[in-house]
Formats: sequence, C-alpha cells, structure tokens
Amino acid sequence: MNTLHLTDSPADLAVAARLLADGEPVAIPTETVYGLAADAQNEQAVAKIFAAKGRPQDNPLIVHVASWEQLLPLVAEVPPCAKALADAYWPGPLTMIFKRSEAIPASVSGGLDTLAVRWPAHPVAQALIRQSGRALAAPSANLSGSPSPTNAARTAADMDGRIPAIVDGGDCEVGVESTVVTLVGDVPQILRPGAVTAEQIAAVCGECRINQAVIQPLGSNETAASPGMKYKHYAPTAKVILLNGTPKRIVDYINAHATDGVWALAFDGETDGLAVPHITYGARADEAAQAHAVFEALRQADERGATVLYTSCPRADGLGLAVYNRLLRAAAFEVITLD
Ligand code: TXA
Ligand code: MG
Repeated sequence: MNTLHLTDSPADLAVAARLLADGEPVAIPTETVYGLAADAQNEQAVAKIFAAKGRPQDNPLIVHVASWEQLLPLVAEVPPCAKALADAYWPGPLTMIFKRSEAIPASVSGGLDTLAVRWPAHPVAQALIRQSGRALAAPSANLSGSPSPTNAARTAADMDGRIPAIVDGGDCEVGVESTVVTLVGDVPQILRPGAVTAEQIAAVCGECRINQAVIQPLGSNETAASPGMKYKHYAPTAKVILLNGTPKRIVDYINAHATDGVWALAFDGETDGLAVPHITYGARADEAAQAHAVFEALRQADERGATVLYTSCPRADGLGLAVYNRLLRAAAFEVITLD
C-alpha cells in the first residue's frame, strides 16, 4: 500500500477526513502522541487499526470526540466527577473510562463493558473529528510494543505501507500518552499516568487512587485493570536499565560497566565524565522536558546502535510519574538503586 504523506493544509485535511469517513485508518497528530485513527462505530475500520499495529484484540482503544453530542450516545452515564474533570481538563491529555452503551462495537473496547473516551486539544485532531463527522478510535500510532511516535517521521517509520495516510501536524507538545482514569468505581483511579496528575484529579474529585500496576509488575495471577498493562510496552530494542542515584554515582556505575553497545540516557548537564556515548532527555527537575523527549530518545538509541541503555531514573510524582511509568515498562521493571 502506498501511504500518502499529508500536511495540515485545508486541502490535505479534507483528503484525510474523507478517508476516515470512508472507513480507512489515518495516522493523526494529537497533543500527546500520534494516533492511528478510524471511525469508532465502523467495525471494519476498527479492525484495520488492530491489523496495522499488530495489536492484541483484547487491548481496548480510546475513542476521541470533539463535542458532548458525540460523547453522550457512546456511554451509559456521565458521573458528576467526570463532568467536573471534563470542565477542568477537556480538551486535553485526559482519558476517562465510562460504562459503555451499545453504540460502539464490542471490538473497540476489547470485550469490556466500559469505554475510554478523550477529547483531544490538538487543532488537527479536532478538525478531523469534526470534518469526518465521526468519533475516532485511536491507539498510539506505533507498531504494537514499540515506543509511541511523537512526530510524523517516527509514525512513518512504523506505519508506511500499512495504512493509506499520515497527517503531519509537527511535534507533539506533551510527548507521553494521556492520563487514563477510570470513573466506574467509587473513587477515581489512574490506570496510566500522564500530564493530568493524580493531585489535579483529586483537587477536582476529592480523591484519586493510582492503580498499583502503574509502578509494579502485575503478579502472575492478577488481572490487569487496563489490558495495556499486561504487555511489555514502550520498549526499544536496546535493553533499558534504570539507574536511581546522584549524577556522580550514575556516571561511575556506567563507566564501570562500559563495553561496546553500552549507551547512557542521561539528564541534561549530567554527562560530564561519561565514558560511553549518550543521549539526554531534559533536565533532572524538568519533567515536562523529559516527557517531551523520552520516546524520541528511546527510538534514537535504537537507531544509533545501543544494545544496553543505562537510563537516569526520573522522579515518581507529578508528570515525572508518567515518564517513570513508561521507562519502567521499557526496562521491564529493572531498576538499580545506587547509594
Ligand atoms: O494520548 C493517548 O491516549 C493516545 C492518543 C493517540 O490519544 N492514545 C493512546 O492509546 O495512548 P493506546 O491504545 O496506545 O493506549 C490506551 C490505553 C491502553 O493501555 C488500554 O489498555 C487502555 O488505555 N484502555 C483503553 N480502554 C480501556 C478500558 N475500557 N478499560 C481499561 N483500560 C482501557
Ligand atoms: Mg499505545
């Protein structure tokens, strides 16, 4: 299949909107990461997303909307706390899980009785939802298991030849996927951390829990609250190992383990004395910069031939928790504490 590379010009957006309305998958920019979008109410269109990504059928998709008129028929109810969260954070990088209605094919939510919905802030995503007249199911636009793409070039690296079109909307502002919060239980619970933090959700809803699978491997007999947690996610080919410690301890540890193929993924300004090649991903105290850079850094490490990637460990709170969660999964939970 020849993949069209479209811009965000009105003429190109019209082409993309037509493809979406015709039941074709199209990769689109959002403020978090690029998504692989298709008409959420068209079962064949949704099947093309799973096929292009090589995604397991039981891993549910997020449905993207751009109005309440579009959202309300898709869900059984909107709890008061969800309405308040929407007022505070939509459009934006927050996905909410509701009880579903029958309007969406079961395959979209992987057979669950719930549905994940997001109202994205990116103007191109909004334009395509409006112009196609469709709610769009869209997982991240990577091949299943690879780091999410945060620009059109990385999207093309995974999706060229597999889908009809990719829309280039520039670099994604946030860089990690949306916060996923379920509002189906008594207390809101974060299943995947993102730019909207637990503290911010608690400020709106009074309380917010964080599912333990966010920072711990699932036990062999536990069921994932979010099927995505089961899979080794966000992983580059290089073996990622997280190092928790001061800049000096980290440099000393890496130098003691320096061999061919060993690289460092370090914080800005903490590479002095490193005896191996390195990539940086933002300053230690700048979680927004880390989120923006982390997936691109993992892809670069692969491209440049890293086989082992010693990575400085981010903070596990605020937006840092989102970065930490992605890196923990990339590292298959291998963290070495240096003290
Ligand atoms: O920022 C984002 O959320 C991006 C952009 C494109 O919007 N999308 C994204 O989709 O990251 P995806 O499919 O890569 O991740 C969706 C996550 C998965 O971990 C999935 O298991 C979980 O959300 N999820 C979706 N529906 C769910 C549901 N009904 N219950 C529990 N988890 C759900
Ligand atoms: Mg994904």
